[in-house]
Parts: sequence; C-alpha cells; structure tokens
Amino acid sequence: PSLDEIVNLHDFEAVAKAILPAKAWAYYSSASDDEITIRENRAAYQRIWFRPRVLRDVSTVSWATTILGQKSSLPVYISATALGKLGHPDGELNLTRAAGKHGVIQMIPTLASCSFDEIVDAAVPGQVQFLQLYVNRDREITKRYVQHAEKRGVKGLFITVDAPQLGRREKDMRMKVVDEGGVAKVQDGQGDIKKDEGVARAISSFIDPSLSWKDIPWFKSITNMPIVLKGVATPEDALLAYDYGVAGIVLSNHGGRQLDTARSGIENLIEVVEALKTRGPWPNPRFSVFVDGGIRRASDVLKAIALGASAVGVGRAFMYSFSAYGQEGVEKAFQIFREELEMNMRLIGARTIDELEPSMVDASGLSSH
Ligand code: FNR
Repeated sequence: PSLDEIVNLHDFEAVAKAILPAKAWAYYSSASDDEITIRENRAAYQRIWFRPRVLRDVSTVSWATTILGQKSSLPVYISATALGKLGHPDGELNLTRAAGKHGVIQMIPTLASCSFDEIVDAAVPGQVQFLQLYVNRDREITKRYVQHAEKRGVKGLFITVDAPQLGRREKDMRMKVVDEGGVAKVQDGQGDIKKDEGVARAISSFIDPSLSWKDIPWFKSITNMPIVLKGVATPEDALLAYDYGVAGIVLSNHGGRQLDTARSGIENLIEVVEALKTRGPWPNPRFSVFVDGGIRRASDVLKAIALGASAVGVGRAFMYSFSAYGQEGVEKAFQIFREELEMNMRLIGARTIDELEPSMVDASGLSSH
C-alpha cells in the first residue's frame, strides 16, 4: 500500500511484516520465551479507561512538552532499537532526519548500524539526541564512548539496566547469523561476535553482567549529561535510583525481549509514583519517570502521562515505519501521533500535557492500583 493508505501505527507493522526479509522481521518483532510480556504490554493499556472532562474550551490544545529539560514537539521520544539497517538501507538515519524535521528526540542505540558520528552528523542544528548505553566489560571503552557523545552534544544518557544477559528470543535464535558484514560491523570494536544464536545474541556478548549500583557514582563522575536508568520495574529500584541521584528511570521491559512474564511498564507506574512521593511532591523537578512498551496510540501516551509519566518511548512502531517507507514513514508516524493527540486531548478535556491528571483515567483494572 502507498503511504497515503496508512491510517494508524498498526498498519506499518502489517506492511513491515509483508516486506521485510525473514531474518529482519524475526529480529525486530521477536520477544523472549513465550512472548507473554510483549502481549501484556498492549493488553495493560486496554484495562485503563478514560474519565473525560467536558465543557473546557478545547479550541486550542498543545501536546508540546520538555523531556529532561529539552523541548520536544511530542510527549513521545524514539527509543533506542539496534540494527536499523536490517530494516532499511539508511538505518537509523531515517529516524534522525524525520526527528530533526519535526522536533522529536531520538535516543541513539549503542548497537546502531550507522556509526554514532554519522547519526550525530545527520542532525540539524539544535536537534536533541540522547544516547542509549550498553556498558562494556572494558570500562575505558565505555568512558571514551560516553565522553565523546557528550562532546558531540548528546543531551542525556540512558543506561540500559535490564539486559545483563540478552533474553532468548526464540524466533531470532532460529536464524543463524550469516550476513557478517551487516551485523559484525555494528559491534564497532566492542568485542567478539557469536554466530549461532541469532542476531541479538551475536552482537551483545560485550555487555557487562557485573554492572551494579556501585557503578552509578562512576558514571556521574565521567559525564555531566543527565543519567536515566532504562529498564527499572519496581518501586524498590525506583527509590534506589532516586537516592543514587540519577535524573530518572524508564519503566520498561525492553519491549518484552528480556524477562518474560515481567509486568508491563504502565502496570508498574502507579506504585512507582506512589513510592517516589515519599521523596517529595509529584511531579518532582529533579526526577523523571518514563514508560515504554506497547505504545501504539496517542491514548496510550495520554494514559501514561495522566498517571505520572513525563513522556513515553516508542520502539517498534518507528522501526516498522522506516522499514516500510523510510524517513517518510517515520514522518507519517509522527503525524498520526499528532492527529490522535489532538483528538484525544479534546475529548478528554486536557488542553496541555500539564492538565493531564490521574483523575482522568480509571486504572482500577491494573493490579498495582
Ligand atoms: C529494542 N530495545 C533496545 N533497548 C536498548 O536499551 N538497547 C537496544 O539495543 C535495544 N534494541 C532493540 C531492538 C529491537 C528490534 C526492539 C524491538 C527493541 C528496546 C527498546 O528501546 C524499547 O524499550 C522497546 O522497543 C519498547 O517497546 P515497543 O515500543 O517496541 O513495544
């Protein structure tokens, strides 16, 4: 179908599935074990209902916001997803160019298939980019990478903490890594590659499973970028993150690709925000909570923000949009978010992102309510 026929984000997934080579589809779409968490990521949003307010003069609505102090035209950022070139020859640059044109923030993955500098060079002046970090066993490599990113103007460091070992994504594991060019290049001096357990495992063997809370002060000593821990799932760890002085957390289960039967980020949000209220009034200017996993509609975005998130991350929906249509596909995905946000905010009775509040949703269907 032509791009004009795409009306929602699900449509991109259908096109990507039809056109992507089997190996790329397996890598992008797979999740771990029985893929229960990836399904739950969608299902959890469907247990939350709106409590819309009326008669609030919604002639003008605005969904612009700030994320870690940086302006964003959408309350959505592009979450890091590895290996963009499996989906499209321009890889991650599709995201960079679309994001630059529309004022959306891109999180650059450690395992991007374009080089870090290529991705930064493709940004327009003033364009905001974050960096997702997989921590290398060799901390000197990590230090150089982080400090280079800061020097190149990256505005936030998202350390992935839910992947001391990569999950078993069985669809992906059934695919042997034969195309060494594409996959091995990504490793970019980070370590050896394993070729018999799928793409994900092939590229991840450098990741340090010994990473611990004790390393947080070191990260703070090597960079002035705000540090966010990506992949927190409990109030206990949210409080530790707060007390260790980082700038925020992402409630995420890595798109269902790590611990299967882990709860969804949105399910964890309510109890995490409750716990953080013991450290001061919410929202707290010194600490942000983000959510990702399963977001395909503006209504999902608005539910997370109403329950206390600052913004949300989206992974697959953007990968599928550039796989199917390149940069234009990503731009269309932004447009769909804008149109859905405008309509939903009017119908909920929220004129700005700040007007979204817990009373606008009925989250009693969530177990942590
Ligand atoms: C990811 N994600 C991810 N996260 C990360 O910290 N480093 C990475 O390299 C990757 N790579 C990656 C590849 C692919 C193919 C997917 C689908 C996901 C996780 C990603 O940042 C995000 O947490 C999820 O994608 C969010 O869920 P949705 O939006 O895909 O449902």
